[in-house]
Amino acid sequence: MIRTHEAGTLRAGHAGETVTLAGWVARRRDHGGVAFIDLRDASGVVQVVFREGAPADAAHDLRAEYCVLVTGVVGTRPAGNENPDLPTGAVEVTASSVEVLSAAAPLPFQVESHQGDTDEQTRLRYRYLDLRRADAARGMRIRSELTRVIRSVMDERGYLDIETPTLTRSTPEGARDFLVPCRLQPGTWYALPQSPQLFKQLLMVAGFERYYQIARCYRDEDLRADRQPEFTQLDVELSFLDEEDVYSLVEELVPRVWREVIGVEIPVPFPRISYAEAMRRYGSDKPDLRFELELVDLDTLFAGTEVGVFRGALDAGGHVGAVLVPGGASLTRKQLDGWVDWAKGRGGKGLAWVAVEPDGTLRSPLAKFFSESESAGFAAAAGAAAGDLVFVVADTSTHKALEMLGALRVAVAKDRGLVREDEWRFVWVVDMPMFEPLDEGGWHAVHHPFTAPGVEWEDSFDARPGEALARAYDLALNGVELGGGSIRIHRAEMQQRVFDTIGLSEAEAKEKFGFLLEAFAYGPPPHGGIAFGIDRLAAVLAGHESIREVMAFPKTASGGDPLTGAPTPITPQQRKEAGVDAPPPA
Ligand code: AMO
Ligand code: AMP
Repeated sequence: MIRTHEAGTLRAGHAGETVTLAGWVARRRDHGGVAFIDLRDASGVVQVVFREGAPADAAHDLRAEYCVLVTGVVGTRPAGNENPDLPTGAVEVTASSVEVLSAAAPLPFQVESHQGDTDEQTRLRYRYLDLRRADAARGMRIRSELTRVIRSVMDERGYLDIETPTLTRSTPEGARDFLVPCRLQPGTWYALPQSPQLFKQLLMVAGFERYYQIARCYRDEDLRADRQPEFTQLDVELSFLDEEDVYSLVEELVPRVWREVIGVEIPVPFPRISYAEAMRRYGSDKPDLRFELELVDLDTLFAGTEVGVFRGALDAGGHVGAVLVPGGASLTRKQLDGWVDWAKGRGGKGLAWVAVEPDGTLRSPLAKFFSESESAGFAAAAGAAAGDLVFVVADTSTHKALEMLGALRVAVAKDRGLVREDEWRFVWVVDMPMFEPLDEGGWHAVHHPFTAPGVEWEDSFDARPGEALARAYDLALNGVELGGGSIRIHRAEMQQRVFDTIGLSEAEAKEKFGFLLEAFAYGPPPHGGIAFGIDRLAAVLAGHESIREVMAFPKTASGGDPLTGAPTPITPQQRKEAGVDAPPPA
C-alpha cells in the first residue's frame, strides 16, 4: 500500500508517529497562514494541518475531492480544539509533504453536503461522487454485512448455495418479463427470471433438500420506492418440511442479522396473524404494528342508514369503516379538504369526516343525515372521545374499503406522530387466500400457481376458489413486506386442478411449465420455501424509505440509469444480429 495508516483509525495513541495517508480532500479551511483539510478515505476522516512554508503553499492548490497522498506527524490537538463528534477528533496530522494523486474537476454538487440537498437525478448521474458521502457508503456497508450474516447462517444450517440461470423462460410471479433476443436461434427470446422459483423446485426434485441463493430477479412493473426492475432476493427452498420449519429458519436468521448488523435484539417467535384478520384490523396484508389505531367497523351502526353513500355501499354487500384521529377535531376545514383530496388521489370514491365536539355533539357534513340512534351511537361505535375526529370510508367493495382505511390509518399515524419509530414489529401473515377474482372474470393465483392449498382445502379449493386458503405466508415488518413464500404442490394431479381453476388448460400448462410437471413425474419430495427482498432488508436496517439508497447503481422511476444512460436504442446492425425482427421459427 502506498499509505501507512487509514485516516479514520488515527487516535491519541498514534501521537508522535509519522504517517502517510491517502484519500480525498473533504473540506479545506484557511486560517491566516495555516490551512486545514479534512482528509477522507473509506475508514473515515482526519484533520490535516498545513503550517507555514512549503506544505502550506502546496495546500493552497488543493480543491475539494482532489485525491492526495499526505505525509506528516500525528499530534494531539491543542486543548479546546478537540472534536468529540469525530472518532479521530483528538488528533490532527501536521503535514510535511503533500502529493496530488489526481485532481477533481469542478463538482456537480458538494460531496460534503447533505444528500437531500441534491436532486436524485443528479445524485444518480454522479453516483460515484454520491457514494463518497458517509451516509451512502454506510448503506452499502450495511448491505454487505447483511449478506455476510445470511451466508453464515445458511451455511451453518446446511443450505447449499446454488446458482440458477438468468437467461431462461418466463417464471410466473405475475409481473411482465424482460426479454432478451437469442442470436443463435433467431426469432426466439429468453426471459430474465422474475425469481428462481421453478429452478429451486427442480433442485428439490434433484434431491438437494436445502437450497439458498442470493439471486438477482427481474420484473418489468411500475416502479416505486420499494420496487426496482432488478432487485435481489434471498431465495430459499427446502424439502420434507412444513410451515414451522420455514418460520424457525427465519426466526433464527432475522435476529442474527439484526444483532450482528445493527446490534439490536429481536424477540422471537414473531406473532402470526391471519390475512383476514390483518385486513379487518389494519386494512393491510403487511400491517404496521408500531401504532394502534385499529380500523373501526361501522356496518352494524349504519345497517339501517339513510345516508346515501353508506346505504349504497352496504346494499351492494360492501363496507362502512372508520379510522380514528385522536385530537383531530381541531383540524381546519382546509386540512380536512386536504385529506379528502388525498383519498381521492388514491382512487377512493370519497371520504367523510365526523368531529366529536367538546360537548359530545357531532360536527360533519353528513351529520344531518344521521338518524337519532346513529348520532347517539356514533362516538361509542368509533371509540371516539370529545375532541377526536373520525374518518369514514364507504365502498361497495369491502376489500377496497379496507385497503383505503389501511392506507388512511398509516397516513394519519404518521401525520399525528403516533408511530413508535424505534420499534421493530415483525409479523407473519398467514392463511392467505389462494385465489383472487379477476376483473374480467375467472381467478388468479394470489401467490403463484405452485402454492399448495390449506390441508382442509385440498378437496374443495376448486369448488370454492373465492374462500380457499393457501399454505402461503408473508413476513412483514413495520408496514413493509420483507418476504413471502409457500408450501408447494408436489403432485401433478393437484397441480393440474390449480391450473384448471386459473383457466390454464392442460395444453397451455404443458407448454409453459411442462418441464416442471415432467420433473414431478419422478418422485418429487414435498417441498416449500420463501424469498426475502435483500434490498428491502438492507433499506430498513439502514433506516431508509427507498431501496434505491442501498443499491449501488439503482434506476430511476422511469427505469433509466442516469449514469450509464441505459437503456439506449440499438443500431440497425445489432438489431439484425440479435434477430429482433426475425419471425418465430416454424
Ligand atoms: P415474491 O414475489 O413475494 O415471492 O417476492 C419475494 C420478495 O422479493 C421482494 N421483491 C422486490 N424487491 C424489490 N423490487 C421488486 N420489484 C420486488 N419484487 C419483490 C419483496 C418480496 O417480499 N418465488 C417467490 C418466493 C417463494 O414462493 O418462495 C417470490 O418471488 O421483498
Ligand atoms: P358527494 O356525494 O361526493 O358530494 O359526497 C357527500 C359526502 O359524502 C361528502 O362528505 C363526501 O366526502 C362523503 N363521501 C362520498 N363518497 C364517500 C365514500 N365512498 N366514503 C365515505 N364518504 C364518502
